[in-house]
Amino acid sequence: MKITAAASTPLQVKVDLLVVGCEDDVDENPIVASLDGPLGGTLRRAMQDERFRGKPGQVLSLHTQGRTPAARIALVGLGDRGGARPAALQVLGGRAARLANGAGAITLAVAAPPSLTTDSATAAQALTEGLLLGAYRFDRYLAEDKRAPRTLASAQLLLAAPASAIARGEHVAAATARARDLVNEPAAVMTPTRMAAVAAEIAAASGLELVVLGPRECAERGMGLYLAVAQGSAQEPRFIHLAYKPAGASKRVVLVGKGVTFDSGGLSLKPNDGMLDMKTDMAGAAAVLSVMQAIAAEKLSVEVHALAACTENMPSGTAYKLGDVLRSKAGKTVEINNTDAEGRLTLADALTYGLDLKPTAVFDFATLTGACVVALGPYIAGVMSNNDALCGQWLAAAGAAGEEMWRLPLPDRLHEQLKSEIADMKNTGERWGGALTAGLFLKEFVGDVPWVHVDLAGPSSTDKENGHVAKGGTGFGVATIFEYLRRVSAA
Ligand code: BES
Ligand code: MN
Ligand code: ZN
Repeated sequence: MKITAAASTPLQVKVDLLVVGCEDDVDENPIVASLDGPLGGTLRRAMQDERFRGKPGQVLSLHTQGRTPAARIALVGLGDRGGARPAALQVLGGRAARLANGAGAITLAVAAPPSLTTDSATAAQALTEGLLLGAYRFDRYLAEDKRAPRTLASAQLLLAAPASAIARGEHVAAATARARDLVNEPAAVMTPTRMAAVAAEIAAASGLELVVLGPRECAERGMGLYLAVAQGSAQEPRFIHLAYKPAGASKRVVLVGKGVTFDSGGLSLKPNDGMLDMKTDMAGAAAVLSVMQAIAAEKLSVEVHALAACTENMPSGTAYKLGDVLRSKAGKTVEINNTDAEGRLTLADALTYGLDLKPTAVFDFATLTGACVVALGPYIAGVMSNNDALCGQWLAAAGAAGEEMWRLPLPDRLHEQLKSEIADMKNTGERWGGALTAGLFLKEFVGDVPWVHVDLAGPSSTDKENGHVAKGGTGFGVATIFEYLRRVSAA
């Protein structure tokens, strides 16, 4: 899809479909007013008849019968004024792309409400992300005639914005789409070996350094926690390290992503319903590997390392067992009381590997606990940190990127739940506060390096389509990581 921006008015664009974003002040919307005249009052009448109030999810479409250069007009409700700005524009772009493809439109123009476009570069980036991701589909396993048509070829944003803003939106959207693809592929396809092959593709296309470690190399490095999780699987583990090292960067950031390509629970086997979506348990890895292509494309001035300890978690005759005592790369021993708490084990060794790179900050992204979904619901990620300043910068970037995140505490008092009689710690605590004890477990492996842990078990995939977010993998995290690093790079 070709995306351009120009300060044309909605009455100037000759397109198959003109989409107008409307907040809940539709009666005062100047764009609606400007279209109603040429349409002889039919737009306002249709709005009244259809009770179009600009509420989120509302759509009103009509044929213009040649009375405007645009053949069709669709009003799209965005709801509350002053709501989350980039998110509203992403949703508008996403719905515009869906409406265009649904109507068989080839050319599209999008007009956003003026209150949302005061910063035109930010607006253009968000609309671009929305358009491209709204057109995203994972349909490669569907028969040709079952695939929804993709007619949309060009989109015009009706605002004056620099081409660089559109390019940035394209880079973020492409990285997000790649992360979605990785999550959406079945676990039989997206194995640890395949993840490493994808990392190699990204490295080659973006000029990044790549190191991939197999089980023997991980054993040499003492990654006893990670390898224990991997030992029950017929698929070999792959530890992936992608690096972006621009000259002259003063900051070095390590991104760790949980890369469990299928989580059966191991011997602490999950029931069917709990296992159903567990091909998505590598969403953290998908995000950190994919975002690297956007970072390189935008030539950010910050050194970035993406790490993913990829493995399956399977039950078998060689699987790790309850009661096993494992030695981590950091030297700490861990007694296993639940093999389904595997993510923190893989992350702990990856974090220790990351600390060896002497980062200025370290982040981890993981579909880590069901408890986090209980706490915050399916759309909001839980954030835990040992550093208030870094955490504040992270949450600000999330807000600007249009991703919802909420900080949770790391209460010292829960730490005793991880005490073991025979090892330095156990891998799980009690049921209540499970997202926090998982965070406390990881905290043991980051020392005093500024660290942010993002539990994205909820938002990493969805069963409800919304604007630019399709059912399935969402690519959650890519946009915020990029925005955070862009700010670091510009500072
Ligand atoms: N991958 C799961 C967490 C998860 C659950 C992600 C639901 C997405 C949706 C993780 O490995 C896990 O199994 N966690 C356990 C931890 C428990 C054993 C302490 C959980 O949440 O039940
Ligand atoms: Mn698990
Ligand atoms: Zn898991």
